[in-house]
Amino acid sequence: MNRIPIILDGDPGHDDAMAWTLANASDELEILAVTSCCGNQTIEKTTYNTMRICTLLGLHVPTAKGRPRPLVSAPIIAPTVHGESGLDGPKLPEPDFELVPMTAIELMEKVIRESDEPVTLVPTGPLTNVAGLLLAHPELKSKIRQISLMGGGVQYGNWTPAAEFNILVDPEAAEIVFSSGIPIIMAGLDVTEKAMIFPEDFERIRAVGNPVAKVVAEWLEFFYQFHRSMGYEGAPVHDAVAVAALIHPEIMEMKDLYVEVETEGDFCKGATVADFRGVLGKAPNAKVIMGIDRKAFADLLVEAVKHYGEAEK
Ligand code: RIB
Ligand code: CA
Repeated sequence: MNRIPIILDGDPGHDDAMAWTLANASDELEILAVTSCCGNQTIEKTTYNTMRICTLLGLHVPTAKGRPRPLVSAPIIAPTVHGESGLDGPKLPEPDFELVPMTAIELMEKVIRESDEPVTLVPTGPLTNVAGLLLAHPELKSKIRQISLMGGGVQYGNWTPAAEFNILVDPEAAEIVFSSGIPIIMAGLDVTEKAMIFPEDFERIRAVGNPVAKVVAEWLEFFYQFHRSMGYEGAPVHDAVAVAALIHPEIMEMKDLYVEVETEGDFCKGATVADFRGVLGKAPNAKVIMGIDRKAFADLLVEAVKHYGEAEK
């Protein structure tokens, strides 16, 4: 089977961590590199979390630190959701490897140039690094197969009424990505808030019994705390949908839409506006995921953690 070459870019973040756990367990994907971005926490914290997650998962591929702040906007962080560390909850191993001596954009450029085939980017945080890559190396667009991103929402936001966090943190970057012409799979809130992992699923994952399974169950428990306080019945594992879309698109409903990003405004900055009626007459630039088989998604996570060693006897 030809594995899909991918680069993971995220702001871990509990759901980024679970997305990477799924990606690293998948035989369909070949992770070429991992890059951190600023979002849920500062770049220093998301980079430290990136290294700890990769150490836990045994994911030893070139890893680099991303830009310290959005392209234009001031940084926004989310300690209420992910804690002061950005990945509060279970104890994680200290990093057992060093970052490569280059920036995230330099690493993305190197990996894409050297790849025998076009590379898929899987950003699950603000799109700062991806936009920076496209600005610095527009000639590489032809070697980027697609971008499967978590971000946006064509019906509502979660950080403002109109904007989802990843897009709001760096709307200028998002506008660059959505107008790039590169095929996009958009896992926005429309689907990610249906990608709910319930407490009974936490127990199914914990029961797998290996060290990674236990950590994932504890990540879910921590992530659920905020969402339960908001009235959710489970934890919406937003970022893992961007990975699942690459390996099991059959469990999802996607709609080809033309989507543009609002970068101005007092009320709608960061909104991802979809042209459902085609009034603009523009060709779709994104496959917007609108639905998911929740149980199948939860089963994907349960099966993924089994990859990390046998259940305890
Ligand atoms: O709005 C959800 C997104 O914001 C997720 O990627 C989460 O990790 C945070 O970055
Ligand atoms: Ca994220």
